[in-house]
Amino acid sequence: MGIVYHEASKEFHLFNGHVSYIIQVLRNNQLGQLYFGKRVPEDQDYGYLVEMIQRPMTSYVFEGDRMFSLEHIRQEYPSYGTTDYREPALEILQANGSRITNFEYTGHKIYAGKPKLDNLPAAYVEDPSEADTLEIDLTDTVTGVKLVLLYTIYRDRDVIARSARFVNEGAETCHLTRAMSLSLDLPDCDYDWMQFSGSWSRERQLKVRHLEQGIQSVGSLRGISSATHNPFVMLKRPHTDEENGEAMAFMLVYSGNFLAQAEVDTYNVTRVTMGIHPHNFDWCLHPGESFQTPEALLAYSSTGLNTLSQTMHSLLRQRVARGYWRDKERPVLINNWEATYFDFDEDKLVQIAKTAKECGVELFVLDDGWFSTRESDRSGLGDWQANTKRLPNGIKGLSERIEALGMKFGLWVELEMVNKPSDLYKKHPDWILHVPGRKASHGRYQYVLDFSRKEVVDNIHDQIAKILRESKVSYIKWDMNRSLTECYSVAFPPEQQGEIFHRYVLGVYDLYNRLTTEFPQILFESCSSGGSRFDAGMLYFAPQAWTSDDTDAVERMRIQYGTSYGYPVSSMGAHISITPNHQLNRNTPLKTRGDVAFFGAFGYELDLAKLTPAEREEVKAQIAFYKKYRGLIHGGTYYRLQSPFEGRGNNVAWMVVSEDKKQAVVMYARILNEVNGPYHRLQLQGLAENVRYRLTEENGKSFGLHYGSELENVGLVTSDAAAGEVPDRADMARDFESHLIVLEAE
Ligand code: GLA
Repeated sequence: MGIVYHEASKEFHLFNGHVSYIIQVLRNNQLGQLYFGKRVPEDQDYGYLVEMIQRPMTSYVFEGDRMFSLEHIRQEYPSYGTTDYREPALEILQANGSRITNFEYTGHKIYAGKPKLDNLPAAYVEDPSEADTLEIDLTDTVTGVKLVLLYTIYRDRDVIARSARFVNEGAETCHLTRAMSLSLDLPDCDYDWMQFSGSWSRERQLKVRHLEQGIQSVGSLRGISSATHNPFVMLKRPHTDEENGEAMAFMLVYSGNFLAQAEVDTYNVTRVTMGIHPHNFDWCLHPGESFQTPEALLAYSSTGLNTLSQTMHSLLRQRVARGYWRDKERPVLINNWEATYFDFDEDKLVQIAKTAKECGVELFVLDDGWFSTRESDRSGLGDWQANTKRLPNGIKGLSERIEALGMKFGLWVELEMVNKPSDLYKKHPDWILHVPGRKASHGRYQYVLDFSRKEVVDNIHDQIAKILRESKVSYIKWDMNRSLTECYSVAFPPEQQGEIFHRYVLGVYDLYNRLTTEFPQILFESCSSGGSRFDAGMLYFAPQAWTSDDTDAVERMRIQYGTSYGYPVSSMGAHISITPNHQLNRNTPLKTRGDVAFFGAFGYELDLAKLTPAEREEVKAQIAFYKKYRGLIHGGTYYRLQSPFEGRGNNVAWMVVSEDKKQAVVMYARILNEVNGPYHRLQLQGLAENVRYRLTEENGKSFGLHYGSELENVGLVTSDAAAGEVPDRADMARDFESHLIVLEAE
């Protein structure tokens, strides 16, 4: 593996065992994109891939030449207005009003390892031998702005990380109004575009459409990556499925406004662009200053979508997530939110924790409502001291009582927000994002603190760090419950207002960085009204995220299935809640709620005392099961088997196989029962062909002994035993039923 530069052909070839990425310095000294895909020989000259055809209505770069036009050349990091008419990767507004730039190659560096990005989350290496990095320097001589394109290719992962850095080495201030992390021109458009869209409580639903000429895009202008669209998209060939065919993944390691787009031109060239959304982005670059874009991850598979997702999973789990908890088994938690909402006191909480402890729960999490005057969602945010009416012994006292039970203690916070009824707002009304002279909009009665200002971040840091220092807190749920509006900071001059969205995100990262550094053993779980900030940027600081406020098992199958295209099981907070479900009023069996939540960072979100004794026994068994298999479920290889996004979506199945292929756990569900239904088979994946596995359902029911190849090709018989005429048979299936099968190699 490595990166080579062929001086004669001026080609860079980045490659590992499976993929190749080829760039050429073009005749005009700009960069051409020659190839990205399955590995091809590295000693070949691929210059013939710069196709030039003389076409009418084209503008040309060189005087007297009617061949070289950027409109027809696939490029690496294109600009607009010098013969290319597609959407560019960058745009710089200069003192004279012009936005034209010409970035020409001036040199490059190749080295082992991967650099850190200033103040930004990014994938990393633990040893320089894991990856190689290429930095290509380009300069626009008129402005003096230097552009560095960064590429890292991993040795054993089919991933290339890309970003760009701008350095103003000129004499005049300019404005960066577009600075994408990645631009990739592909020679054709025969792809399906896969995006993960939704809203509160129905996050990351898969949407697929075939690429067409024109622009198709998703993005966020909410200041957070958002539940509306995830900063993750895939392209697959039309015939590609989970097991076969070519596909690519694009993920932005960022938690704010983003754009992910594919522009197909009239010659069917596809330009994929990903980065900070240019709308409302305007970064003032004074002489001597630099700007680093977030990182975009580009992954490739020639063996279907499961492989592509697995590449993303292991990268995010092992080389984006960090710290003490990265590889540790995650504690089974109980969260009091759906159990009490705002109605609790210390004794009630301890009682919930006690019952949970008896069932085997390891961590008690105190959710919203513990601080200041917070007894509803109308007040208190901004003042991070315990409400001593409810918690007479403060967080310190409560956390000690919980630890005395033999459990760990966790705390909910929403540090980026303030309610007007709060001491913080009274003292600093100008600390919220707002435009002077205009009203500020609220979301859930709360206002967004101006995290672009260091003194604001300092204040919140000092308040929360004090509690963490004096109490026994092992876990933090970091919430964020509204989108940004009136994103303007009174601390910055007019020409820098286009920076505030990004500076806000940098402020959030700064606070995360300070807290995770000072409290390395605290497990952080990010949350944003459920999954409104479920992104790789957050995973760098918090190895798990609350996947959705929707805890209904059927909805969760769709949400977790959609999330699994990009993100690992270990990152998805998944809890069992009470029925009827609070979001939907639906009744699902406790077993199904468990079977689905096992495939995540598992926990409960109810008062276990409200269950029947028999249900509590079931809970004990669930927890015992999870403790036994959580290492496998989080560390194994995950396969999607049956999609809730296909057809009627009635059958859903997935499985996890251990690295040594000796163990596996399969979950399958039939959402609505079928009367007199068809026969069903489920083909498994990832098993050892000639090994015999013993299959047991967790209730002890045996599915016999079967070869890996048999389970993959013949499949598992999953027809319902009785979906017929005779009512009330004990073995008759019901709606919302799921099955969990453990495979053990003989
Ligand atoms: C958000 C979170 C919930 C809960 C509430 C508390 O909605 O997603 O899990 O913490 O806030 O206000």
